[in-house]
Amino acid sequence: MKAIELREKFLKFFEEKNHKIISGARLIPENDPTVLFTTAGMHPLVPYLTGQPHPEGKRLTDYQKCLRTDDIDEVGDISHLTFFEMLGNWSLGDYFKQDSIRYSYEFLTKVLNIPNEKISVTCFEGDKDAPRDEEAAKVWEECGIPKERIYYLGKKDNWWGPAGETGPCGPDTEIFYDTGKEKCCDECSPACDCGKYVEIWNNVFMQYNKKADGSFEPLKQKNVDTGMGLERMTFILQGKENVFETELFEPIVSMVKSKASMPNDDSLRVIADHIRASCLLVCDGVVPSNIGQGYILRRLVRRAIRHMRKIGFNLDDISALCETVINSLSNMYKELEENKENIIFQINKEKNRFVNTLSNGEKEFNKITSKLKEQNEDLIDGKSLFRLYDTYGFPPELTAELAKENGLKVDMEGYNKCFKEHQEKSRQGAEGVFKGGLADHSEITTAYHTATHLLLESLQRILGPHVMQKGSNITAQRARFDFSNPEKVQRDVLDKVEAMINEQIDRGLEVTCEEMPLKKAREIGARGIFDSKYGEMVKVYTIGDFSKEICGGPHVDNTSKLKHIKIKKEEAVSSGVRRIKMEFVD
Ligand code: ALA
Repeated sequence: MKAIELREKFLKFFEEKNHKIISGARLIPENDPTVLFTTAGMHPLVPYLTGQPHPEGKRLTDYQKCLRTDDIDEVGDISHLTFFEMLGNWSLGDYFKQDSIRYSYEFLTKVLNIPNEKISVTCFEGDKDAPRDEEAAKVWEECGIPKERIYYLGKKDNWWGPAGETGPCGPDTEIFYDTGKEKCCDECSPACDCGKYVEIWNNVFMQYNKKADGSFEPLKQKNVDTGMGLERMTFILQGKENVFETELFEPIVSMVKSKASMPNDDSLRVIADHIRASCLLVCDGVVPSNIGQGYILRRLVRRAIRHMRKIGFNLDDISALCETVINSLSNMYKELEENKENIIFQINKEKNRFVNTLSNGEKEFNKITSKLKEQNEDLIDGKSLFRLYDTYGFPPELTAELAKENGLKVDMEGYNKCFKEHQEKSRQGAEGVFKGGLADHSEITTAYHTATHLLLESLQRILGPHVMQKGSNITAQRARFDFSNPEKVQRDVLDKVEAMINEQIDRGLEVTCEEMPLKKAREIGARGIFDSKYGEMVKVYTIGDFSKEICGGPHVDNTSKLKHIKIKKEEAVSSGVRRIKMEFVD
């Protein structure tokens, strides 16, 4: 079964169980500056898990693009990836453990035809925060999983969430596929990472909210949040050894291999994973930079390039590689094809930036290492790490990897110190207007979010209807907004846009929200960037007589709650896409 069929079967199965299919979100969380990327299907659903009603009801299902950077260094084994797709189903205060487990078991054994004997599960063993999950284990037994394949494990293994520091979480039951390999030892269990058991699905029983002080309180409602890794399930269903042998990766790996003079599996996998993730990141609006999401993208591209050099892959073939990624995945993510030009442009631009300093950086690295060896030392100090980063564009994580290959260690703490000192110097008074406790984080980001609606409408009225939102990113200090426009927007035009926004703020327009089917939202002229599913219910935010936009919120209830804005910067992101930075001013 191909990955795309698995995705379709999953959604259809849950649709038949009265779940509504909703659209997944972008990889960059909207309005959530506390996390860099969407890391799980539940992420965009946090408000609904904590009690806000979802316009589509209490049973939902979708597929979600996710990016996890915690195990960026593990990439290369059979199943670790940075970018992956999560298939999920949710109960928002509707069904709980019983149905959740039964649905999973039915899907695995009846739809995917996985034999019962291949399935092992784990349940929460209990601690001071929540009891031993005998309830879940009992349902598994009723499904036909014998006791000896039901394992109880602690919080480290059988508790999921919150996604950030605080929020919804709970005990989970994880489902494993037994690959049939020999047990590595007598105690071998799904907790073991020897490769015998591959985790395929996680059902989280989200009934707690983790508070900032670390304690847990019951949520208003008992939810179910599940996640199945599409890439993993696909390789298992295809009887392959790992994700890289499936159609999701095989064309990418083959292309790199055919053009490399000294290919090795490890490098091929790193390159395939990182370039795939990079293409999808650029597609969702990330641009390589030294901070936040942009820095992760930079690391991915640069690490891939280092491996390309290692295996003798000509860097001029990067464009062709991006095309291979886009072609092989565009049936799954049609936005890739639409953004092809920009993806190739950004990744090439980053390659060129890195290549310009790469060989000098390598020389510098070799100088550092031979000096250390002469002195019989094995630690690269923080200053050298920082110089390699600042002057030669080597992310410290990359240097650490190179160091390891040379039997050396790095002083990350020392690096961080140098980095902070440098940052402090360059910041020099450029403090955000909201520092100093004028308002709390969420209030400011909400206010900025409403301001971006005013910005989009103003741009469309002044520049023309071709202006489409291409992305936004909000922090407590500023809002960044990307939009389509063929040329630079001159300062006098920006002044007009600014004046139009500030006029709406002065008018004290009411902001209202209405739920309606997507079709109706389009009919009433609501603007929207998301290509949601036809028939889906959406929220439309209306700002007085000025703007109507499809959006998840939240927003201030009246524009009078906003301070005046100032457009600080206008620049190019790529051909045809411009970026505006705006800030509230006193
Ligand atoms: N949110 C759960 C996970 O990511 C399903 O594993």
